[in-house]
Amino acid sequence: MPVISKSHEFDVSDLFVNLQPVFRRRLFLKVEGFNFAGSIKLKAAREIIAQAEASGVLTPGATLVESSSGNMGVALSMLAAGAGYRFVCVTDSRCNAATRRMMEAFGAEVHVVTEPHETEGLLGARLRHVEALCAADEKMVWLNQYLSAGNWMAHHGTTAPAIAKEFPDLDVLVIGAGTTGTLMGCARYFRETRPHVKIVAVDSVGSVTFGGPAGRRLIPGLGASRRPPLLDESLIDDVVMVPEIETIRVCREMTRHGFLFGGSTGTAVSGALTWLAAHHPDGDVTAVTISPDMGERYIDTVYRGEWVWDSFGSALVGNEVPGDLQVVSG
Ligand SMILES: Cc1ncc(COP(=O)(O)O)c(C=O)c1O
Repeated sequence: MPVISKSHEFDVSDLFVNLQPVFRRRLFLKVEGFNFAGSIKLKAAREIIAQAEASGVLTPGATLVESSSGNMGVALSMLAAGAGYRFVCVTDSRCNAATRRMMEAFGAEVHVVTEPHETEGLLGARLRHVEALCAADEKMVWLNQYLSAGNWMAHHGTTAPAIAKEFPDLDVLVIGAGTTGTLMGCARYFRETRPHVKIVAVDSVGSVTFGGPAGRRLIPGLGASRRPPLLDESLIDDVVMVPEIETIRVCREMTRHGFLFGGSTGTAVSGALTWLAAHHPDGDVTAVTISPDMGERYIDTVYRGEWVWDSFGSALVGNEVPGDLQVVSG
């Protein structure tokens, strides 16, 4: 058992779930939700803060500010509390209530943007709010996870090597795209060390990251309403777009096997299954994808029949009605 004195020192980095019994595919899920921030964003937050401190941008007494759909905000709230920084998180109406309250419990100030920017959606509105805060107070330090190299370098240095170590025979790596920090860090690592590994990006339908039309997205974590500046598409072999109703179906399928994962895990797994079915129907490859967080924060959304019904009812009564959702929505 490890003994720690700072909450960020504990982070399970070697846990994988074999999804073969669930989906009958050689697909493994790297679980990133077991740390005190509850998500993969702890890795990026730690590296971004370390780089800002090392470069002298971040000094004692500073106020950190960041735009986050939730998990980065929780990770920064936790790290800021431990290091004695003040932290202002700018999020939007998609952020789960529990996530917001968690940030506040760590002492963060949370600003919730509810009006989307006319062309760049809620993300555009959040970024403009951060810019206004920085313009009004010179003590504010915007870490900017959308631009900071620490975001992808964290995964290049930890997440990707952990996957490589566990899977010397890896064929396909499937990764969800939010800021694209995880995707870019892992893609660069495998391009450098094992270029034959296929890199497949997964995004939510309604995200503009890979050039698709903007649309409604309710589940936080993946997708963007403006193109992530960290993204370098030359490092990616393929992209799979997943409708949120599929995200929910896959999340709920995993609960039937005793695994309660966050929404974006369902998207990543769904994307992996779609890609594998199209490219390797014989199941002759080894694939890994990543679970960014666990399911507790999604109990009132992804895992609540009423929310699913209210949010996707029109999709449920359409042609393609996922059987399990018929049960929960009644
Ligand atoms: C739940 C969840 N999944 C996926 C992601 C995407 O990770 P990245 O920003 O590294 O692309 C995030 C990022 O905030 C997240 O919170």
